[in-house]
Order: sequence, then C-alpha cells, then structure tokens
Amino acid sequence: KRPAGAPDRSLARPVTKVGVVGAGLMASQLALLFARRLEVPVVLTDLDRARLDKGVGYVHGEVDRLLAKGRITGDQANRLKGLVTGSLTKDAFADADFVIEAVFEDMDVKRKVLAEVEEVVPETCVLATNTSSLSVTEMASGLRHPERVVGFHFFNPVAVLPLLEIVRGAATGEATLATAFAVGATLKKSCVLVKDAPAFVVNRLLTRFMGEVTAAVDEGTPLEVADHALDGLGLPMTPFALLQLVGPAVALHVAETLHAAFPGRFGVSENLAKLVAAGKPGVYGADFQIDPEARALFEGG
Ligand code: 3HC
Repeated sequence: KRPAGAPDRSLARPVTKVGVVGAGLMASQLALLFARRLEVPVVLTDLDRARLDKGVGYVHGEVDRLLAKGRITGDQANRLKGLVTGSLTKDAFADADFVIEAVFEDMDVKRKVLAEVEEVVPETCVLATNTSSLSVTEMASGLRHPERVVGFHFFNPVAVLPLLEIVRGAATGEATLATAFAVGATLKKSCVLVKDAPAFVVNRLLTRFMGEVTAAVDEGTPLEVADHALDGLGLPMTPFALLQLVGPAVALHVAETLHAAFPGRFGVSENLAKLVAAGKPGVYGADFQIDPEARALFEGG
C-alpha cells in the first residue's frame, strides 16, 4: 500500500549507486543499511582518512557481527564489505543517484556540503538530508536544483528501528519524493511523510518527553527516580539511556531548535547544556553506573 502522501511509484528513479557524506556513527549505520538492502555500491566521504577508516571499519565490524549471528552468509558478508568504500573526495559521487548527508547539525555546514555535492553529481541525483530538526526548505535554498532535496530522517539504532520520516521541503519535486519513498521501502522502513516543521514530528514529541524528565531532575527529583519512573510502561529503554544513545549534544541541538521556533512551548535544560559543555556522553559512565560528575551537574541544579 502506498504511504499517505507518497507520489506514484512510477515516478521513482532507479538507484544504482549511493553516496554518504560523513563517516560518523549515523553515516556509517546508513552506509551499511543502504548496501545491505539496496545491494549497490555505497561510497562514504569525510574530511580525513582516520574518520573514513573508522566509518568503514564500523561497517565491516557490523557485517562480521551479522555473519556470526547467521543472519548473512560468508559470500554475502564479503560482498557487503566490498560494496562499502571510503573516499576523501566527493568526485566519487560523480555517478551516484542518491546522496545522503549525515554531517554536523549546522545549517551553514549542511548547505555548504549540499552545494559541493551538487557540483559533482548527475542532474537527476537525489540529495537527502538526515537532519534531525533543521529546515529542509532552507537547506535546499540557494542550490541550483532545490527540487532534488528531501529530508530522510532515521532513528537510532538505524538497523533496528523501522521508522523513517520523509520530509518534503517547499521545493521538493515529485520524482525526488517518489524516489525517496521507493528507496525507503527497499530499506524496509516504515515511511511517513512529515511537514518541514522544526524537528518534524518524532523529535518534537521526544524532546517534550526528555524536557519533562530533565526538568524534574533540574527541580530536585533524584536522577534514578526520574529515570525509572516509567519502568512499568514497558518502554524499551529509560529516558536517560535514550539520551545517551541519541547523544546529549544532538538532544540539546534539537531542544534549542525547538526553543527558537516555539519559545513559549519548549525550554532548554540548563543542566543538559552543562552536561554537553563538560563533554559527557550522558549521565551514565562505564558499566552503566551514574557518573558522579554528571550527577553533580544535573542534581546540582
Ligand atoms: N546497531 C545495530 N543493532 C543493534 C544496535 C545497534 N546500535 N543496538 C541493538 N541492536 C540490535 C541487537 O544486535 C539485537 O539484534 P538481534 O535481535 O538480531 O540479536 C537487537 O537490536 C536487540 O538488542 P538488545 O537485545 O541488545 O537490546 P534491546 O532489546 O534492549 O534493544 C534497542 C535495544 C533496540 C536500542 C531498544 O532499547 C530500543 O529500541 N530503544 C529505543 C531507541 C529509540 O527510541 N531511538 C530513537 C532515538 S531518536 C533518534 O534517533 C532521532 C535523532 O534525530 C535524535
């Protein structure tokens, strides 16, 4: 069944090669997913060799894990490893049909990246962004072909969570959107079309949820009490474990975007900002015990 708002599939263009800009954790997870489900070459690019090697290394490690679990055969593992390569220049995207960026969450950085990619890719190549909260319309503005930009927002862990928010910007073309839905279906994701609104839909809800949990701690509820208050609801993980998975910097960025867009409706936890400034990966330290410094930052108020 065609998802609500998806254009006719006949408008979708074939995708025979994928480019991924960035080789961080999100980008590497995307590279593996695209290679595994689309079975086409996937090229990762990043600024330096060390990051590239880490990204490709992550993919190889995950392929080995899938092989060890018996989810793929040895032949499939070798093929998958061969499909994912790294390149220091975007020239490797010259014959790509679909490029997705998963770089730092900053409008200027993303606009610059898309403009650079546009210089090398074929005219019909889709340019997707995995932004978690920024405007797809603004990101596309200034490009020669803004009609080929679309939001393609995945959820962590990408290999496990089925949801994919597809974001239509003001200029997004029908063929671009149709290709995005076709690719999403081949990736075996549940695609939903969402408006190009700050933080789209899911991160808006999650930010509200996290905002209330952090506010409770800011106001004096002990961390453990707030974090385990919902255990009985059967959520897959506690709120602060989720914050750790998403990364406090990303969560803070989304909260700031929402605060800027709707100042009366969304606040920004000062203690979350302190956690990010201190460079903490979350409130939990090694062996999943609450890190005393993180506790002091949060409960210190
Ligand atoms: N990469 C790949 N696979 C992973 C993984 C990862 N990072 N983490 C877990 N998995 C796999 C495991 O290998 C396992 O697979 P198997 O069944 O084939 O063996 C399966 O997921 C279940 O893992 P576990 O048994 O280790 O653990 P759980 O059952 O507790 O599940 C979880 C872990 C999938 C992370 C689950 O806790 C969960 O779904 N949590 C909620 C995550 C969530 O809400 N994410 C959304 C964040 S918001 C976001 O990303 C948007 C952004 O813009 C901020």
